[in-house]
Amino acid sequence: MPSIRNKLGAAATGTLLTLGLALAPTAPAAAAADDTLRSAARGTGVRIGTAIDMTALAEDATYREIAGREFNTVTPENVMKWEAVEPTRGTYNWAPADQLVDFARSHGQKVRGHTLVWHSQNPSWLTEDAFTPAQLRRLLRQHILDEVGHFRGRIWAWDVANEVFNEDGTPRDTIWLRALGPGYIADAFRWAHQADPKAKLFLNDYNVEWLSPKSDAYYNLIIQLRRQGVPVHGFGMQGHLALQYGLPTTVLENVQRFDALGVQTAFTEVDIRMQLPADPIKVAAQAEGFGLLLRACLLVRNCVSYTVWGFTDKYSWVPGVFQGEGSATPYTEDYQPKPAYYTLRDTLRLAS
Ligand code: XIL
Repeated sequence: MPSIRNKLGAAATGTLLTLGLALAPTAPAAAAADDTLRSAARGTGVRIGTAIDMTALAEDATYREIAGREFNTVTPENVMKWEAVEPTRGTYNWAPADQLVDFARSHGQKVRGHTLVWHSQNPSWLTEDAFTPAQLRRLLRQHILDEVGHFRGRIWAWDVANEVFNEDGTPRDTIWLRALGPGYIADAFRWAHQADPKAKLFLNDYNVEWLSPKSDAYYNLIIQLRRQGVPVHGFGMQGHLALQYGLPTTVLENVQRFDALGVQTAFTEVDIRMQLPADPIKVAAQAEGFGLLLRACLLVRNCVSYTVWGFTDKYSWVPGVFQGEGSATPYTEDYQPKPAYYTLRDTLRLAS
């Protein structure tokens, strides 16, 4: 599907400006046609997504309605993680994740699978027992083959390896690195590819949206993996930003360098938290941050999706994890769209 972002060159700013002006006097019909995020995203080549909280989806009709209406890709916030799918060794619980995949199918949404190898949210039987390296390797292989195999053909993209580097670009110390060495990452991608050859396979992390030692580490890893013929197809930047640290300035340059490698990119878990209480200037800065990441995605060729980590403050993970912070999503707790919502929609409209 040809889109404006494929044509962006030196005249990019002028083109967007002209387009913006052309769209400015919105005819009622045109406004109605793209009054959701997903309809505004049509024709941009970028899917707009959200993480889904399965309890909220089951219990909250407004949540369900907005999730189905506004987004064309979804990510399970927790239910595909290892501790959720295999709480007891050898006993799988696919039911909540299957429900998510069914919801997505019935709403014309693609699914981002999240996540296969990680240091966090692993079952205690896995982390507390003293397995040998050979046993751990077999367990990881089986986990990936079973999970990717279970969803084969129904997952658009998998976050295969999550958060594998430290801030300084050194490999993160995890049970996997300790037992198996850095080669576990290549193995994980090979196993995932074997189980579902059509799924797009991603690396994923936070604090990698801008130029830094950590994003350098991913850049170099992708070059190395591809040289070895490892099936890595994409780089996911989570996008968990916090206003008090300022908005990053080198996002576009960073996305462009991955784009130039020929891998897909995606913003996979965007939320922009602030120190509470929220006020109008923070809310405006937040909208700017959501727009900044989306623009970077729309300005390159191979950025395929932009996912928010929850669309409403009602169920956001932020207040439970970051003391005194919150208000990180595009809708308030009572489902009022914030400026961030309108910035996302207007930015998508400019590119469609
Ligand atoms: C978070 C979920 O939002 C929480 O509900 C859960 O308690 C912990 O994990 N990076 C990731 C996500 O890749 O899986 C994390 O999700 C947020 C940080």
